[in-house]
Amino acid sequence: MGKRKAKLHSSKSGYNLVAKEYDKKESYLNSFEQGNFSSLLTTVRGQKILDVGAGTGRLSLLLARAGASVTALDVSEEMLKVLNRKNKNIASVIGDAENLPFPDMVFDMVMATFVIVHLKDPGRFFDEARRILKEGGKLIVTNINQKDPPIIETKEGNIVIDSYYHRPEKIRQMLEDRALAIEDETFIKEKGLWINQIIIVKK
Ligand SMILES: C[S@@+](CC[C@H](N)C(=O)[O-])C[C@H]1O[C@@H](n2cnc3c(N)ncnc32)[C@H](O)[C@@H]1O
Repeated sequence: MGKRKAKLHSSKSGYNLVAKEYDKKESYLNSFEQGNFSSLLTTVRGQKILDVGAGTGRLSLLLARAGASVTALDVSEEMLKVLNRKNKNIASVIGDAENLPFPDMVFDMVMATFVIVHLKDPGRFFDEARRILKEGGKLIVTNINQKDPPIIETKEGNIVIDSYYHRPEKIRQMLEDRALAIEDETFIKEKGLWINQIIIVKK
């Protein structure tokens, strides 16, 4: 049997294609966090939070429900449409993690879950996150251990979405190089292997 053929897509066109089906993966995605954000949710009331690569709002919705003022940013307008149908009070912005359309020092927290896997150079996003965070603000990033992007079946055939593997030490170093202090680092494991790195840093 030969390798299955799949067409390579950018994040924007790829997630636009999968948006309507994306929520079927919710519990699978949750399993990479194993409830790690539940304590965070008790501390966000009144905070101004940017969810970068928010997708269909898996975390934006929880943050908004916990009393945060949430802005959801994503390159895929179709993903944001699904989010908006679920909660009209979350501000949504079509934009790029590497060029955030916000002034300096306006957010208390920036989150990016399952996003840097799609960035060739996460450093550009970290620079931007640092710029828009208030002093003392927090950045929460997850880094999935994914060496080969999955093949996704869509109505236009099989696709893969442009993805990059990042070594955890490299991510840690990139954050430290930008004077972002590591407050917490957790490795979610399955059968003894890390599957997701969750890092919380403070500006
Ligand atoms: C795997 S989904 C994660 C969605 C959501 N954060 C979650 O945890 O369920 C990745 C999301 O990142 C978005 N994305 C990828 N590259 C991006 C970029 N450069 N700027 C903004 N969003 C991006 C995709 O469109 C997609 O919605």
